[in-house]
Amino acid sequence: MSHGSTPAPLTARATGALTGTVRVPGDKSISHRALMFGALAVGRTTAKGLLESEDVLATADAMRAVGAKIARQDDGTYVIDGVGLGSLLEPEGVIDFGNAGTGVRLTMGIFGTHDIAATFVGDASLSKRPMGRVLDPLRDMGTNVIARSGDRLPASIRGAKQPLPITYRVPMPSAQVKSAVLLAGLNCPGETTVIEPIATRDHTEKMLAGFGADIKVTVNDAGERVIKLQGQPELKPQDIDVPADPSSAAFPIVAALIVPGSDVTIENVMLNEHRTGLITTLIEMGGDIELMNKRSAGGEEVADIRVKHSKLKGITVPADRAPSMIDEYPVLAIAAAFAEGDTFMPGLDELRVKESDRLAAVARGLEANGIPCTETEDTLTVTGGADQIGGGTVVTHLDHRIAMSFLVLGMAAHKPVTVDDGAVIATSFPTFTSLFAGLGAEFLGNDSEAA
Ligand code: S3P
Repeated sequence: MSHGSTPAPLTARATGALTGTVRVPGDKSISHRALMFGALAVGRTTAKGLLESEDVLATADAMRAVGAKIARQDDGTYVIDGVGLGSLLEPEGVIDFGNAGTGVRLTMGIFGTHDIAATFVGDASLSKRPMGRVLDPLRDMGTNVIARSGDRLPASIRGAKQPLPITYRVPMPSAQVKSAVLLAGLNCPGETTVIEPIATRDHTEKMLAGFGADIKVTVNDAGERVIKLQGQPELKPQDIDVPADPSSAAFPIVAALIVPGSDVTIENVMLNEHRTGLITTLIEMGGDIELMNKRSAGGEEVADIRVKHSKLKGITVPADRAPSMIDEYPVLAIAAAFAEGDTFMPGLDELRVKESDRLAAVARGLEANGIPCTETEDTLTVTGGADQIGGGTVVTHLDHRIAMSFLVLGMAAHKPVTVDDGAVIATSFPTFTSLFAGLGAEFLGNDSEAA
């Protein structure tokens, strides 16, 4: 699956204040997991508000390939008739995950302890990303793996006939690695333990508990999260309400802060504590951000977020905040371009292995638009307040968040900003241009959604 082979340049330009109330699509992390866990349950799971993006639809296809029945109802609800843990069928063709790192890594975990063979492929971006971080623990659990050098895709696995539960300390802050090991542990006899020295998003733990798995999380004397999962549970189907994705909400939040006169409300946004680092940071920078109507939905706190144009100041973003805003640094860099002084962002090593080398892609994009910045191996410093910014063309490297971040820049810059490919946005936020057009933004390009 891919967004299409012809790049579609897209330009955003300043058109005045952004105003209105919007709903961004469902959370990508929860949407992937709803399809996966629904496929592993026995019976019918439903998912309302599922994100219908290329990444998530690739996961739906992968689950269909092992026997789950997944259908979309007229009201947009997805109905998943699970095949059951331990009963996955061997897929017939290759599993194409397109751009989706979460989809492929978590699915390799699931398949890795089932007695089936599967081959995974992805687009040019996904084929460059490290898979050893997932394949190494899977090998310890008994999975046979053949992958391109450095454990890149394409990769073929033969799942373990007699899988072994392991104790695994996650070497980098990665919810995907943690989740892959836990999902592999589901079909192991006995207890799988994952030790997480640095906490990352906990959707897998919370949702598996909701599906009836025996999973316990404690914190040890060293402050590390210790997750213990008992294998071979019978997962019970769930009715899931997917809240709006805070990582997608990040774009209208930052746009409202930097476009003069703006006043935007984004409804029903998930506030999971492992996902809200950007909001904390923007408030510290002086952002007028109000969390209204806080409530609980589907086991997560949600709120409506009202954001008004604000005078921002540069800050140092604590490195230990990075896991809670790892996908939001590109758009934070855009906010920083409008802040007074320097914004220093340390602890960014993981940005180098995202859909693109995001640290480099952001730095090159800022430079192309006259925004001073300094990049080191794992830090970025952006100096705000430059004169006459914009006017550049940004290389997106098949990275949806690079495309969206620089289009947000174009909404507030002195000169229009072009991204070389707007089609990549379909990975996570297919309604991006229509949603922003509704707030008053204007795009030029051959993207079908452009307004
Ligand atoms: C995700 C985890 C993060 C994040 C990605 C979604 C998930 O990746 O960047 O967009 O759903 O588990 P890492 O766990 O590799 O940091």
